[in-house]
Amino acid sequence: MIYLDNSATTFPKPASVYRAVESSMKGFGANPGRSGHKMSLKAGERVYKCREALARLYNTKNPENIVFTPNCTYALNTVIKGYLKPNDHAVVSELEHNSVLRPLQALSDIGVTYTTVKAVHGDFEATIDNFRNAINEKTKLFVITHASNVTGTILPVARIIALAHQYNIKVLLDTAQSSGVLPIDVENMNVDFLASAGHKGLFGPMGTGVMYIRNPEDIPAMVCGGTGSSYIEIMQPMSMPDKYESGTCNLSGICGLLKGVEFVEVTGIDRIYEHEFNLLTQLYKGLSSVKAVKLYTELPQRDYQAPLLSFNIDEMHSERVATILSDRYNIAVRAGLHCAPLAHKGLGTEEQGTVRASISYFNKASDINALINAVRKISYQL
Ligand code: ALA
Repeated sequence: MIYLDNSATTFPKPASVYRAVESSMKGFGANPGRSGHKMSLKAGERVYKCREALARLYNTKNPENIVFTPNCTYALNTVIKGYLKPNDHAVVSELEHNSVLRPLQALSDIGVTYTTVKAVHGDFEATIDNFRNAINEKTKLFVITHASNVTGTILPVARIIALAHQYNIKVLLDTAQSSGVLPIDVENMNVDFLASAGHKGLFGPMGTGVMYIRNPEDIPAMVCGGTGSSYIEIMQPMSMPDKYESGTCNLSGICGLLKGVEFVEVTGIDRIYEHEFNLLTQLYKGLSSVKAVKLYTELPQRDYQAPLLSFNIDEMHSERVATILSDRYNIAVRAGLHCAPLAHKGLGTEEQGTVRASISYFNKASDINALINAVRKISYQL
């Protein structure tokens, strides 16, 4: 299959990721941090290596502030539900995923309110102004996606964080679509909280997520339990990362994630983005030449768009297009609302949804040509 659904999860993974998953299960599949025998120690050492690799990737000197979670949603929930107190207010972009909107909505029970603001594609100044105008005296948190999973729109996150800090507001950065694709430096960008998936641009297996917390005093543990430390204490340990890592971890997933992060490090984020951006531009130009195609962003500009785009063919429902692409052309894309309903409201595509093509480092120019040709053929049959 020609796989262009990399925003949902990247496929394929680097060969080293598959090997690491298998060898961890077969070679040292013991519970890390729980026992003193050699297999458990080796497992614990690999988990720590992955934490260190992520600390290098995000540029923090504190690997223990990198926490493994089951997925990005879990990390977003931990911060949103942990940081916001009764009657607090949050500001989020309209591009946010349901993994941000739904926990915020759930907090309305305790009087938490939030404002959604427009992230203007390609206009950083307008986006920052929109955030500034939404601040009120109760605003405690901004939640911002680094890049939209619907349009690829990149937000000026470092500048939004600088704005927030002027008002004593903290920022949760959702890097599900940007980790491994765009540079992220939590020190220089002054990121307070970061959430990411491990299985997208970081090429780990599904079931891996990452959370970074600059100041652990900000967020209580969402789940308490066994950590392999402080056994005698009934109180949840406050030491990092144990505070947030109760229960047995996903060892094979983390071993695969380590190899995925190492692949990103060796390949280089700049090279990854350049390759994907070139394919995105090829795709955009090709689709623009098909009369019936409607695109939802402008010609991709470097630093303003992650390697994905949304389109439709005339009035055809996006799900129908995706089904034809899969069944007749063996091409994988995602259609519908991509769990980001407000982004579609902004685009006026709540009914039709959009067809989303998302690119990875392993895609080739021939994959893009296959999609363009298939879309052209579908449009001829309208
Ligand atoms: N959030 C993922 C996507 O955009 C699953 O497809």
